[in-house]
Amino acid sequence: MVKVTVCGAAGGIGQPLSLLLKQSPLITHLSLFDIVNTPGVAADLSHINTKAKVTGHVGTAQLEEAIKDSDVVVIPAGVPRKPGMTRDDLFKINAGIVRDLAVAAAKFAPKAFMCIISNPVNSTVPIVTEVFKHFNVYDPKRIFGVTTLDIVRASTFVTELIGGDAATLRVPVVGGHSGVTILPLLSQVAGTDKLSQEQIEAVTKRIQFGGDEVVKAKDGAGSATLSMAFAGARFALNIVEAAVNGTAITECTYVHLDADKEGAKDTKAVVGELEYFSVPVQLGRNGVEKILPIGAVNNYEKKLFDEAVPELKGNISKGASFITEGA
Ligand code: APR
Repeated sequence: MVKVTVCGAAGGIGQPLSLLLKQSPLITHLSLFDIVNTPGVAADLSHINTKAKVTGHVGTAQLEEAIKDSDVVVIPAGVPRKPGMTRDDLFKINAGIVRDLAVAAAKFAPKAFMCIISNPVNSTVPIVTEVFKHFNVYDPKRIFGVTTLDIVRASTFVTELIGGDAATLRVPVVGGHSGVTILPLLSQVAGTDKLSQEQIEAVTKRIQFGGDEVVKAKDGAGSATLSMAFAGARFALNIVEAAVNGTAITECTYVHLDADKEGAKDTKAVVGELEYFSVPVQLGRNGVEKILPIGAVNNYEKKLFDEAVPELKGNISKGASFITEGA
């Protein structure tokens, strides 16, 4: 029995994400939670002839039932930025939403693998950590910030330049999940030696700020939803496959570096005392089985790290202090 709960399942990301998860033969129960519209989304998806039973739960009073005994909880809940709202306003609202969902998970599904999509991921993952610590159910091997869209974009954009198959080209993307904290390690990708430094820098910026292309093209109607749903589903399905069948799957994801202290030494040598970082992780039955080395970094990439680390440090402490300082 594998129960996956999507929190924010009626949203722009949540609906296509739920559709993709419904196709998995490994998921037996897909539980959809939102503060609006989940009965309709659940009824619609429930007609699809795949294995997962689909249930819809709407409103805070139904959160316990939605999340209880989940094996995996995926959180794309949040609000989009509205005119006049600052980034800080947005942070406070989404931070509160993630905190409340994390409290429910800590109480009713403490062993679940937590996949966090709600932005700003650099800060919302530390929020989940602090909530789980508060309830004494914290295990860094089971809490993930989903950075898969950065990897997906990197594969697409790099293939546009060097050719080949974007579906199989793996580009390691480490760091965080916004702007300059996103660190594509293009020097590790075969074929990028054909590119000029100018092209490398341009495609690096495109990966870091890829989300802005979508926001601009949607012209006020929101940010990436379909590509984020694809990436979120890929990550959640990898978690399920690793947990259920013990398959060793390697994927870059944003974790607390305590998830494998020994394995994180290589990363810590580069980023110092930073607590969270997206690193290549070997997933398995327990979530993070190993943190793998980030590998060689060239001088240009080192400069990107220098820009990313202080920004990430600020993002992490903002998230953690939202809980520890009693928001
Ligand atoms: N609990 C559950 N769901 C919630 C809550 C809550 N407390 N508050 C809001 N939601 C739901 C909304 O009702 C909506 O259905 O979250 C969903 C968000 O969907 P959209 O507004 O369409 O936003 P979306 O584009 O999907 O982005 C969601 O992902 O990438 C991030 O920055 C983005 O944080 C945002 C989140």
